[in-house]
Amino acid sequence: MSARVLDGKSIAASLRARLAREVAALPAPPGLAVVLVGEDPASAVYVRNKGIATREAGMRSIEHRLPAETSQADLLGLIARLNADPETDGILVQLPLPRHVDSQAVLAAIDPAKDVDGFHVVNAGLLATGGPALVPCTPRGCMILLHEAGIALAGAEAVVVGRSNIVGKPVAQLLLAADCTVTIAHSRSRDLPAICRRADIVIAAVGRPEMLRGDWIRPGATVIDVGINRVATAGGGSRLVGDVAYAEVAAVAGAITPVPGGVGPMTIACLLDNTLIAARRRRGWKE
Ligand code: GUN
Repeated sequence: MSARVLDGKSIAASLRARLAREVAALPAPPGLAVVLVGEDPASAVYVRNKGIATREAGMRSIEHRLPAETSQADLLGLIARLNADPETDGILVQLPLPRHVDSQAVLAAIDPAKDVDGFHVVNAGLLATGGPALVPCTPRGCMILLHEAGIALAGAEAVVVGRSNIVGKPVAQLLLAADCTVTIAHSRSRDLPAICRRADIVIAAVGRPEMLRGDWIRPGATVIDVGINRVATAGGGSRLVGDVAYAEVAAVAGAITPVPGGVGPMTIACLLDNTLIAARRRRGWKE
């Protein structure tokens, strides 16, 4: 068997096109502020891509690039100004922050109504209790991929490998809300392969290149690979791989997301969707 490939790039493109149409019909463009502290090259690429996508959707992108030595007080001051700015609908502080900054304190300072990353404890709590949360972008992207692929969720066994606040825990909440039976496994779980083999749906979000092997997957299962790992190639270059050993797993699974071109493009599309949702809620525009 060879798995159906779930094309995140094209699903994200459709979502972004729909969002652009909806934004064009609004009384004013939503505004997304992205804050980058320091010069981490990967973060700089992410922030640039977010800015491009935001403008393509017809929204305003406000980028704040601060030097690596920015103090926590100055960063909190910027967040306070963005919280108070009526034209800023979404605030995203790119992670990781420099080590002298307390990331939790910074995330906690963002107005939950503008927290388009969905990382604030208020949004995490709302998600866990079935309230109107802003939901983290990558987990939302995973759920849209499952939905678009027509995967039956009610009663399905879902195994999430990874327990981060950004992906593992929130995607487990979303799967639970969709009536899956959910297991959260992680790098310390006993007999991880056996746990994964139970699953109808596997979400791989451990951040370890090609950790999930072909014989961990039940034939026909759906595999969503959240990992983005840069590994060295024999020729001295590098390439991106997921948390899943793609060729092996694709030979067994029923459906699989590629890396790149699977979950990654969905994350940005969901960030734009969250910005639109935040703008509508804050400004009282019809959803
Ligand atoms: N760094 C890597 N992924 C993310 C993300 O989804 N949001 C933020 N704010 N920073 C990140």
